[in-house]
Amino acid sequence: MYVCLCHSVTDTDIRRIVRTEGVCTMRELSGKLGVASQCGKCGRCAREVLREAVAEENAAIPCAGLAAV
Ligand code: FES
Repeated sequence: MYVCLCHSVTDTDIRRIVRTEGVCTMRELSGKLGVASQCGKCGRCAREVLREAVAEENAAIPCAGLAAV
């Protein structure tokens, strides 16, 4: 599903970047994909998807930035 319409970012994109680049904060996610950097309406949904994706990946490699998600 689309999370950010302004930048055409899907939940799959977010999960992929968490898995491949170790993104684990909204700041990193916004910097990489532009999420929540334009109208901002996607922020809440993006944060939820990010939190889920990080939790899935985080079982093996703890992320210090998780608290900042
Ligand atoms: S929908 Fe993501 S910045 Fe507008």
